[in-house]
Amino acid sequence: MKFFVDTAEIEEIRALAETGMVDGVTTNPSLIMKSGRNILEVTKEICDLVPGPVSAETVATDAEGMIAEGRKLAAIAPNIAVKVPLTWEGLKACKALTDEGRMVNVTLCFSANQALLAAKAGATFISPFIGRLDDIGMDGMELIQEIRQIYDNYHFSTEILAASIRTVNHVKAAALIGADVITAPPAVIKALASHPLTDKGLDAFLKDWAKTGQTILG
Ligand code: E4P
Repeated sequence: MKFFVDTAEIEEIRALAETGMVDGVTTNPSLIMKSGRNILEVTKEICDLVPGPVSAETVATDAEGMIAEGRKLAAIAPNIAVKVPLTWEGLKACKALTDEGRMVNVTLCFSANQALLAAKAGATFISPFIGRLDDIGMDGMELIQEIRQIYDNYHFSTEILAASIRTVNHVKAAALIGADVITAPPAVIKALASHPLTDKGLDAFLKDWAKTGQTILG
């Protein structure tokens, strides 16, 4: 399973990348706004830091505009995945951009049928939003399961990028289902390493070690 980090904060990406946990990055207009940075500049810096796919989102609402923006974003670096919304215009742009050999991440997916269309339009990634479905009392993970089954039934190569991940339990459930990628905020990725029994066990080991009076490095 690949881990993408869902942020446009360079220092957070750099810190996580040092652990080898960053296979790619996803951004969106809200994350760019939060970073306070220029989209072209910050995206370039991210691409220089992370060799894997870096999603940069278009903001036009018509296919022609998305294609033009997508080409400009893709010119930033070879590892850009152009993000387009799951609208009919977005699907048209997806087809055109993938036909040009570019990676495309179709975002804002909330149904299995939408995911089916994205795969048929040649999407590199489909981004179903788990947390936002949970927020309205639906089951985001059920959507991941449905898409997995449909893509497997027809051997689509589009990768399922489980997005809008809010908790460590989302990560585990997506992994059990077989999502190809998760994208999560840095705090959720870091929280995956935490367990109270690890902390308790380490504390006990260190206390016993201190009683031995030994040092390993001499
Ligand atoms: C994915 O690409 C999106 O940027 C992100 O996962 C959305 O998450 P949110 O619903 O927490 O904003």
